[in-house]
Amino acid sequence: METFRISVLVSGNGSNLQCIIDAVEDGRIANSKIVGVISSSENAYALERARQHEIPAAAVTKYEYADMRDRMDAILKILDGEHPDLIVLAGYLSILPAKVVEKYRGRIINIHPALLPKFGGKDFYGIHVHEAVLAAGEKESGATVHYVDEGVDTGKIILQEKVPVLPGDDPQTLRERVLEIEHKILPEAIAMIEKARH
Ligand code: GRF
Repeated sequence: METFRISVLVSGNGSNLQCIIDAVEDGRIANSKIVGVISSSENAYALERARQHEIPAAAVTKYEYADMRDRMDAILKILDGEHPDLIVLAGYLSILPAKVVEKYRGRIINIHPALLPKFGGKDFYGIHVHEAVLAAGEKESGATVHYVDEGVDTGKIILQEKVPVLPGDDPQTLRERVLEIEHKILPEAIAMIEKARH
């Protein structure tokens, strides 16, 4: 069976990346290899996590590539060299250029810290998602893994799991509860996709 090649795009701490690394290493994601990590930020700890596991890692930042087209070409050059079967946006805070979405349509997934289609879109990222959920008085939140299309957080949903919003929650306590679910469903979704290709 061909090894399932996974490229991961990150921006920050990389806790979601770490869960994928662990799941590949312990076999929960079978027959797979993380072939590369691309970060939108030079000092993302996610890059360090990749290096600790001898995964090729590179930063493609808007400082180095001010022009979106140059940044897109740099990302495409790296991805094309990795020949990924799946591209995972794991805490990736830049918008993927349309040309990348076009070229890898159906093979890009994203983890979003809310129950899409609610609380998704351009302004809903990081802590802002949880602020909005609390401000709306929601009784539950959760995380969603979905395919990436030209929109922001609009692609077909693959997996979703709920968590309660508890009395006394603030954005940080809710963010932590949702992050735990992200760490559960992202590896599960990747394992499902890997199994479905046989
Ligand atoms: C997570 O909440 C993820 O949903 C969001 O970025 C946050 C940080 O993720 N997209 P990570 O720890 O860098 O994986």
